[in-house]
Amino acid sequence: MSELDIRPADGVGAYIGGIDLDRDISDAALASMRQTLGDYGVLFFRDQNLSPEGHIKMAERFGGINVNRFFGHVEGYPQIAEVRKEPEQRSNIGGNWHTDHSYDEIPAMGSILVARELPNRGGDTVFANMFSAFESLSDGLKETLMGLRAVHSSRHVFGDKSRYQTENSDLGDRLGNTDAARQDAVHPVVIRHPISGRRALYINSGFTTHFDGWTAAESQPLLNYLVRHATRPEHIHKFCWQPGSIAFWDNRATWHYAINDYHGQRRLMHRITVQGDALAA
Ligand code: SIN
Repeated sequence: MSELDIRPADGVGAYIGGIDLDRDISDAALASMRQTLGDYGVLFFRDQNLSPEGHIKMAERFGGINVNRFFGHVEGYPQIAEVRKEPEQRSNIGGNWHTDHSYDEIPAMGSILVARELPNRGGDTVFANMFSAFESLSDGLKETLMGLRAVHSSRHVFGDKSRYQTENSDLGDRLGNTDAARQDAVHPVVIRHPISGRRALYINSGFTTHFDGWTAAESQPLLNYLVRHATRPEHIHKFCWQPGSIAFWDNRATWHYAINDYHGQRRLMHRITVQGDALAA
């Protein structure tokens, strides 16, 4: 049995106490955190003091590190992606509903985000629960979705024709490697979660372009409906960052959205993305 204190949050996720993540994680605590990810989708931690080395070590306990191709990295730590916004910048990274790396054939299982520098107020992250989003649909729509697959792509988000390249965005100093934005993947619209076996909705507004075999125009109304449904208040939890906070989310069970409401202040986060497994219906 693990010593962890696990308190489910409203909407999605669980607050985890009773662990110092900078120390060795016991096998029992690891098993308990994995199971909690499978059950609740996000682990929220407070009052941690996790060094970059500890961050890498923690991620490696959960699987291989999946280095993001498009984000800048923390100097000296190529495994750690930098999620940064300076006081003079307007655009933030992650300011839309998405789940990380869904454009990959084998998407990342999770992401561990560590707060390094926070604005005085704002800069929170909202998470949405893809288990409850699916389970609360009508039986008819569930049946339809279980027969569908969807196409996910990195091209329109990170490629040379993406919004941040062509519109008035100042993300250019923080994102790059547009040539690498060549991934397209087709995944079931409803997956069985690899840990808990629960069904979860697996599309997102960031990377999903259309249903397989449908046009983008045919797909958009249903995708829009699903986004509206999945982001209803009962499916979401707003995580208010504090010094020492960490969020570890499961990309197969949740979406997230970084709120961009702190212009004029710096926000710096370190993110490690952990390797996943192939997805199945
Ligand atoms: C992300 O989308 O990975 C960044 C989330 C955040 O900065 O809160």
